[in-house]
Amino acid sequence: MLVIGLESSAHTFGVGIVDGGKVIANEKEMYKIGKTGMIPAKVAEFHSENAAHVIKRAMQKAGVEPSEIEGIGYTMGPGLGPCLQVAQLSAKMLAKKLNVKIAPVNHCVAHAEITRHYGKLKDPIMLYVSGGNSQVLAIESKPFHHYSVIGETFDIGVGNMLDSFARNLELEPAWGSSIEKNAKGGRYIPLPYTVKGMDFSFTGLLTRSTELIGKERTADLCFSIQETAFAALCEATERALLLRNKEEIGVCGGVAQNESLRNMLQAIAKEHGYRFGFAPNEFNADNGGMIAYVAEKMLLGGMGRPVSECEIRQRYRTDGARLAIR
Ligand code: FE2
Repeated sequence: MLVIGLESSAHTFGVGIVDGGKVIANEKEMYKIGKTGMIPAKVAEFHSENAAHVIKRAMQKAGVEPSEIEGIGYTMGPGLGPCLQVAQLSAKMLAKKLNVKIAPVNHCVAHAEITRHYGKLKDPIMLYVSGGNSQVLAIESKPFHHYSVIGETFDIGVGNMLDSFARNLELEPAWGSSIEKNAKGGRYIPLPYTVKGMDFSFTGLLTRSTELIGKERTADLCFSIQETAFAALCEATERALLLRNKEEIGVCGGVAQNESLRNMLQAIAKEHGYRFGFAPNEFNADNGGMIAYVAEKMLLGGMGRPVSECEIRQRYRTDGARLAIR
């Protein structure tokens, strides 16, 4: 089935096209975040200006005509309201014009599912780490087929925590990769480490690290904040694996691009003899390909909706989304 997917939950307007589970185009335009961060209305304006030409570019890249499109997916949530609306309205307009059904996709599930696909994982414990989210996930069949949240952050997502610290250090965007670069050659300084049961917290770590700016070397702070945050995430992930008797680990979301985190998870997998998988970085960053990928499964599974029933949900939780059964 030829399906187009639109993503605009945050700073990226992404358009992907899939055909039979294969991503054949994955185009995007990204709003450049300055020192002020993201102002939702401004980002939404950027998306509105770019939507038409990114859609056109994706179709050209895939070599398909609009009339060949058989279904549409868009990010229903979670995300920033004004931003989400751009993909939602674009999807509705396209669906009306082409007379095809729409699948509203959960952004977090899309990251997890595309990672399951590229990482060749069947039934993993999935660590989802992005700006706004940090969750340990597992697939459940009851009471409906979905990703349950086994553990999650009590306060902020690990990505936002690292971004905030990088801004406090006055590093250049992209902040996550700036911290990773600056962490090279750093030495470990003990920092607040909070894991409670399967959940974790990052605000104490951010506060203490910020207090130490100017008192400790930047490289040591960047290295230690990463080590501490990632160790907390890995502890919860490893415990989830053992509790749920799973033998595969996946990592997805923006922070999954971080090599130190991937190396730590790889080490856990190796120790237990488990499989570890992740997707290429273009799918860990926000993208339309993963939306199209999940939308195709949903449409084939009879989960398409008429245009009138396509809403947005800013706080759409991972565990509230029904997965298509394959
Ligand atoms: Fe994302």
